Amino acid sequence: MQFKKRIEEAARSQKTDIVLALDFPYQNPQNRNVLLTKAQVVLEAVHSYVCALKINHHLVLPLGTFDGVQTLVDRAHDQGLQAIIDCKANDIGNTNQTIAEYYFAAGFDALIANPFVGWEEGLRPIFAVAGQQNRGVILLTYMSHRGAAEGYGQTVVDPQTGKPVAQYLAFAQKVLEWKADGAVVGATTPEKIREIHAILGDRVPIYSPGVGAQGGKLETARKAGARYLIVGREITMANDPTVAAKRMAAI
Ligand code: XMP
Repeated sequence: MQFKKRIEEAARSQKTDIVLALDFPYQNPQNRNVLLTKAQVVLEAVHSYVCALKINHHLVLPLGTFDGVQTLVDRAHDQGLQAIIDCKANDIGNTNQTIAEYYFAAGFDALIANPFVGWEEGLRPIFAVAGQQNRGVILLTYMSHRGAAEGYGQTVVDPQTGKPVAQYLAFAQKVLEWKADGAVVGATTPEKIREIHAILGDRVPIYSPGVGAQGGKLETARKAGARYLIVGREITMANDPTVAAKRMAAI
């Protein structure tokens, strides 16, 4: 089964569209067992209210991919969740391919990549490896932070038509052209979600981070067309992560 279908199934059986971003603040690396325990405790506390686990550098750097992180990925699979690595792959093709091979070897079902590097000798090898291993590739389309306007929001010239086009709309076309499994659009800019959803329709799901801590609103992003909501600190830093996740899943 394709990644896109697997996460759809997970969302249906778990009855939630929330993707847990399992992020924690910096800790002295000597305390990484404390960090791993914290991550395990939060995952156990909220797994019933999320359809996928998203891991970022917050855990990969201190725990290592094949030590702590892999145990979290395995546990997420046992719980019926999909696992996404938010590495924002952004390098030359050869390096991108190696990044993808390692993360897929650790069990991740999908990887987030940056379309700014382009296709030839850029993202093509990632899509090739993902295709061979039945994994997904999710592309950044418009990021959730304010500075996103300087890159994803700039106006560029479409090489085919010679006409000006917003970079994020050009990236939405790439999502279709390259057959990506998802597009990331920040919940902080619901109007961008709406525009990108108008291009993608229901063919490619929109993943939306930026809820809560960054100011985005869950329900507004959903109404604008986001299929999955990525939530980190609003859950991981809550006094009671279970209550926070349950509240969000129920909205
Ligand atoms: P918070 O705590 O703000 O965490 O809920 C959000 C998580 O998502 C990541 N993030 C993004 N990832 N594109 C991405 O691929 C984005 O535009 C984006 N914005 C936030 C962030 O690093 C954290 O893990």
